[in-house]
Amino acid sequence: MKEVLYEKKLDKYSNSGEKSMSRRKSTIIEISNLVHIYKGKIETTALAGVNLSVKKGERLVIRGKSGIGKTTLLHCIAGILRPTEGRILVDNQEILQYNENQLADYRCKTVGLIYQSYNLAQFLTVKENIEFPMLLVKTPQEKREKRIEELTEFLEISRYLEQKPEFLSGGEQQRVAIAIALANNPPIILADEPTGNIDVETAEIVYTNLSHMCQIYNTTLVIASHDPEASKYTEREVILTRLESKKR
Ligand SMILES: Nc1ncnc2c1ncn2[C@@H]1O[C@H](COP(=O)(O)OP(=O)(O)OP(=O)(O)O)[C@@H](O)[C@H]1O
Ligand SMILES: [Mg+2]
Repeated sequence: MKEVLYEKKLDKYSNSGEKSMSRRKSTIIEISNLVHIYKGKIETTALAGVNLSVKKGERLVIRGKSGIGKTTLLHCIAGILRPTEGRILVDNQEILQYNENQLADYRCKTVGLIYQSYNLAQFLTVKENIEFPMLLVKTPQEKREKRIEELTEFLEISRYLEQKPEFLSGGEQQRVAIAIALANNPPIILADEPTGNIDVETAEIVYTNLSHMCQIYNTTLVIASHDPEASKYTEREVILTRLESKKR
């Protein structure tokens, strides 16, 4: 089995300066021949040789049908899942060779992962959840407060700061997950179905603001989504697909 990322060109950028500019940008993520096999009662090949290159500051969406491996791919890039085979270079560093300390540092400072299933600490308030990644990198209190205010206003969740996540709706919890990923202003944001539980109107606000924030800070944004609308806010769309090898 071979896995390919089929690149669908977006017409809106095909003749623009932005595309030729992106050709000149340096590469921030370089993935080669990434394979991941989940072992257990059933063995599942989730990634079967993925190659992907992402430029610094680029915004791209990875699409593909359910179960094709989008979450697995993002989790490998985020350094929370060790692939079975392959290479992942981030800023020319092989992250699969990092030791535990380097990996913890990488997860805190370099990548912000927006989980498809939120991954919020239920025993902490919304405010404490968003503050946590900033405490890990020893951000001073005043700066933490300012960042929490800025993020929760932009995501329209300020009124829930003292609330526990279990009392929030799915869409509100998803926005808390986005705030956590953005808290340390990492150079790479990996967004796994960031609008999966949000209505169309709120999704538009989230995508617009996420994309806008990434442009301001020159953040690289990789979105995994079923939603065809997601490509409206990105420069590039790639489709994760699988080619079954022909039986001889
Ligand atoms: N922890 C796990 N253990 C075993 N198999 C898994 C595990 N996580 C995912 N898989 C399998 O790996 C494959 C890829 O799953 P993944 O979650 O990456 O897909 P996806 O493209 O994100 O799907 P969706 O669009 O539904 O979120 C699926 O066949 C799934 O059943
Ligand atoms: Mg998924």
